Amino acid sequence: MSSNTTHEIDIVTVSASKINSVDFENLSFGSVFTDHMFVCDFREGKWQQPQIKPYEPFLIDPSAKVFHYGQAIFEGMKAYKTEQDEVWLFRPDQNLNRLNKSAVRMAMPEIPSDIFMSGLHQLIDLERNWVKKGLGNTLYIRPFMIAIGSGVIAAPSTQYRFMIILSPAKSYYSGEVKVLIADHYSRAANGGIGAAKAAGNYSAQFYPTKLANEKGFQQIIWTDDATHTKLEEAGTMNVFFRINDTLYTTPTSERILDGVTRKSLIDIAKRDGIQVEERSVLVSELVEAAKNGSLKEVFGAGTAAVVNPIAGFSYDDVYYELPKQDHSVALELKDKLTNIQYKLAEDTFGWTVKV
Ligand code: COI
Repeated sequence: MSSNTTHEIDIVTVSASKINSVDFENLSFGSVFTDHMFVCDFREGKWQQPQIKPYEPFLIDPSAKVFHYGQAIFEGMKAYKTEQDEVWLFRPDQNLNRLNKSAVRMAMPEIPSDIFMSGLHQLIDLERNWVKKGLGNTLYIRPFMIAIGSGVIAAPSTQYRFMIILSPAKSYYSGEVKVLIADHYSRAANGGIGAAKAAGNYSAQFYPTKLANEKGFQQIIWTDDATHTKLEEAGTMNVFFRINDTLYTTPTSERILDGVTRKSLIDIAKRDGIQVEERSVLVSELVEAAKNGSLKEVFGAGTAAVVNPIAGFSYDDVYYELPKQDHSVALELKDKLTNIQYKLAEDTFGWTVKV
């Protein structure tokens, strides 16, 4: 190991990288992590000395609030490598903003921009060999914050740990994605934490998703908790519906995650003259459109999943298979987005940031 301090981050590096033991062609999403991680603790009302150190387990008191009350938030981002060996990030400011909105909602401290951005850039710079070239190869970035203060009193912690870990990744879903439309369980409610990227939002979906998996569906499209008549999002992805030549997606609200991929696709669609409307889509409207043939495509959008065409959906025990498209708007938008991310197309929006 060697140790030095750069731009106020203490850096301790590994003596030998494990990169040569990784099979980059056969990665299971989020299961392999790079050599180093970024760590910064919050205590006594302030953020402490940030560190980059070898990726390793750490000890936390068994009474820490994260274990008992789930005070935990995270982000999902990616780094991309060009053929010229440059490494680029995509809209990192949006992830920082959302992380801090999640922090406020979960009564956690906001992370200062300089700690987040310098930690992100220096960690990725150190691990740039882990970012592989070629469309579809990415380095998935997982910033997260947990409550590490001890004591089981049900009140916000006074101590937190913010970390960034990195995982080389290909696609999140392999194979086709079929979805079930929720008619009983809910992901979010007005006044709840649906718009926060809080860990509990994801674990609360595990049980209903397991039931859906047992019926052969990979994901659930959630509906509004009050009436189960309005389509919302798919938990790991926002969802778009193409009826005839218009794309519809649910507007952001306190029940919907403000997805970076979602809003980027909307902007690309608007720039390129593809009709897109942010409005609630009723389950009945979707079923009717599937029956009369005007429903052309449904697709999910998220950082991990990118743009994922949905093969079909089930509602009220009826399965509706989506028609194959000669020209898929989902795939057109996916290409346009990834071409920006990999610097293969001009970034007219100024979204990409070089590491
Ligand atoms: C992401 O797309 O980065 C997410 O956060 C979804 C995650 C559950 C894999």
